[in-house]
Amino acid sequence: MTDTPSTTEFSLATLTTALARVMDPVFGRPMLEIGALSELAVTEGKASMTVHLATPSVSVHETVKRDLEQAARSAGAREVSMRLDVQVPSREVMGDDPVPGVRNVVLVMSGKGGVGKSTTAVNLTLALKRLGLRVGILDADIYGPSIPTMMGVSGQPLTSEDKKIVPLERFGVKMMSIGFLLEDDKQAVVWRGPMLHSALQQFLRDVQWGDLDYLVLDLPPGTGDVALTMAQKLKVTGVVMVTTPQEVALQDVYKSVSMCSKLSMPILGVIENMSYFVDSVGVRHELFGKGGGAKIADFAKAPLLGQIPLEPSVREWGDKGMPVVQSAPESDSAQAFMALASGLTETIAKLHFDRLGGTKVPAGKGPTRLRIVR
Ligand SMILES: Nc1ncnc2c1ncn2[C@@H]1O[C@H](COP(=O)(O)OP(=O)(O)OP(=O)(O)O)[C@@H](O)[C@H]1O
Ligand SMILES: [Mg+2]
Repeated sequence: MTDTPSTTEFSLATLTTALARVMDPVFGRPMLEIGALSELAVTEGKASMTVHLATPSVSVHETVKRDLEQAARSAGAREVSMRLDVQVPSREVMGDDPVPGVRNVVLVMSGKGGVGKSTTAVNLTLALKRLGLRVGILDADIYGPSIPTMMGVSGQPLTSEDKKIVPLERFGVKMMSIGFLLEDDKQAVVWRGPMLHSALQQFLRDVQWGDLDYLVLDLPPGTGDVALTMAQKLKVTGVVMVTTPQEVALQDVYKSVSMCSKLSMPILGVIENMSYFVDSVGVRHELFGKGGGAKIADFAKAPLLGQIPLEPSVREWGDKGMPVVQSAPESDSAQAFMALASGLTETIAKLHFDRLGGTKVPAGKGPTRLRIVR
């Protein structure tokens, strides 16, 4: 045991030595080494620093603050002040990318119908928004669009001076759906494959998405066309795979996972929806069995990002056009969506870190200032 050093011994050198041991919780490397710390300074026994982070995850921020503060105090700091600078890293943007201002494109997918892809897509998007990010949602389900109903938005988008479609906006989320272009919501879209392909392309290239941290795509059920089109047109950050716990859902989801690997699209994580139901006296029931999400995660070699309970309010709020993350943020399902949004940003940060060689905190262009809402 050594005595706590007195403030007179506390210097930039001792601070630096102490901080050199602090590991980045997302990248598992020393923060100092990967450029996650800068502007270290010591004035009159006070330590200050800027911390560079690649995720808005609240738990990551808390861990980092706690670990850095502890290290600085153990080196003798009387006070510690730090500025957190969060920059969301970007996927690779090629010269002909249809959405160059979009840092990450995330597909919400499942081979299986009715498992909650659209519910997950809207709530995940809103949860990302609540983490302070700039987000958009694209309804890639041309034959069965759900976004207008679930986000409670109708009406025709306007066209800008440069002939781009201005996305509709609610809750601070930019959105586009074929549903906004149909005369009435019971009208069917009768299109062949190539038209689907060009409609999707238009929804990327001709919509004024601007600068976004995340564009979330709600995919139709099945393995098919949309993912293929996306893989051909741009570098997708990755896929969030949705499943329900029961065995019968899994076969179709396995196929989707295999297709993603054929298209070299990383699976960012698996979400098990309708995992359990908690009754009025607090007893938990696994209505659809258990373990499906874990099996898919295992098969996809990806994390199980979240288990969303079956809650009648999820459907009710979805039907009312006010997703549960927005309408009842304290509910179990909303909390589960918030946690999975944080987890997803961490996974994506790590993916970019590894992709870029694993030596430096990955950063997008220009800082994204974040407001954390909890
Ligand atoms: N966790 C949940 N608790 C209660 N209801 C839910 C939950 N998740 C989804 N639902 C409801 O289940 C139905 C199907 O969900 P959703 O439309 O999101 O599935 P989907 O996979 O997008 O379907 P499709 O394959 O038709 O596109 C909806 O009525 C939705 O409100
Ligand atoms: Mg859907």
